Amino acid sequence: MSGSAHGRRDAVKLWFCPNDELAPGIAAILGTHWLDEHEQEIAGRFLFERDRRQYLVAHALVRRVLALESGVPEAEAVIWRSSRGRPFLQKPVEGLPRGGRELDFNLSHTNGHNLLGVVRRHRIGVDVERLDRADHGFETIAETFAPEEQEWVAQAPPGRARDRRVLRLWTLKEAYAKGRGLGLGLPFDEFAFTLAEDRGVLGFRPPSDERSGRWRFVELEPVPDVLAAVAVMADEDGPPALQLHHGFPWGRAAPRSLALPEPVGAPV
Ligand SMILES: CC(C)(COP(=O)(O)OP(=O)(O)OC[C@H]1O[C@@H](n2cnc3c(N)ncnc32)[C@H](O)[C@@H]1OP(=O)(O)O)[C@@H](O)C(=O)NCCC(=O)NCCS
Repeated sequence: MSGSAHGRRDAVKLWFCPNDELAPGIAAILGTHWLDEHEQEIAGRFLFERDRRQYLVAHALVRRVLALESGVPEAEAVIWRSSRGRPFLQKPVEGLPRGGRELDFNLSHTNGHNLLGVVRRHRIGVDVERLDRADHGFETIAETFAPEEQEWVAQAPPGRARDRRVLRLWTLKEAYAKGRGLGLGLPFDEFAFTLAEDRGVLGFRPPSDERSGRWRFVELEPVPDVLAAVAVMADEDGPPALQLHHGFPWGRAAPRSLALPEPVGAPV
């Protein structure tokens, strides 16, 4: 295990940052100085100011955290995207200034909230969604699930209890699909989760193309009615810690440490 002033290097690190943590004027300044041409162009395209703000906070967060973790300054990080749109940090030829050979990250944003996950090994996928989403649409979402998941959803009384089940499954499915880099390109009825009543993944039936075998899944509710899920590819080593940071990472405030659950899925 290796450590650093910014926490255990092998830990799974999460940053949950509501938009309110960064005043609009500051987000705009950071955007001007830190975002690359492509990101600036996207930021300039939004019709509504609240959407632009969301984008600026999310991407300032990404660049700040990548700088803290990798040592590559915010404005110098080169972020490239796969053919399916998944962003990756391009490793400088001389390696990461803070050491280590790998660094993977994944971002999710929903009205007013941003979640960023970083790991030093393998892959991570994250998703954050609001239970009070204005467009609802929970029934339509549930129709994309595997039959056993639809059955579990239907066992809950209609309303909040059922919506919560739908959103728990949805965030987990998105987190896994984003960890794989496939996003919605992975049919959501081809893999299934078995969930505990309150929180936690009891079982995972992976899709047939899953090669790495086992994943660790975490469910979080960083603030009431905002549900988040994290998927991390598992290896033989003991469970790494999970560090949850809240707010914009200006400084090095101590994170909350959580235990990562045992891996689930088919053994390889
Ligand atoms: C990734 C995807 C699931 C995002 O869903 P969402 O709930 O709307 O958004 P989230 O807020 O959770 O995540 C968005 C972030 O995920 C990341 N992302 C984008 N594509 C991704 C992918 N394939 N895998 C993992 N992460 C991805 C990006 O950082 C994105 O934010 P940004 O565009 O501001 O940089 C969805 O956009 C998707 O399925 N994309 C793939 C589309 C595809 O296959 N395209 C093929 C080429 S046309």
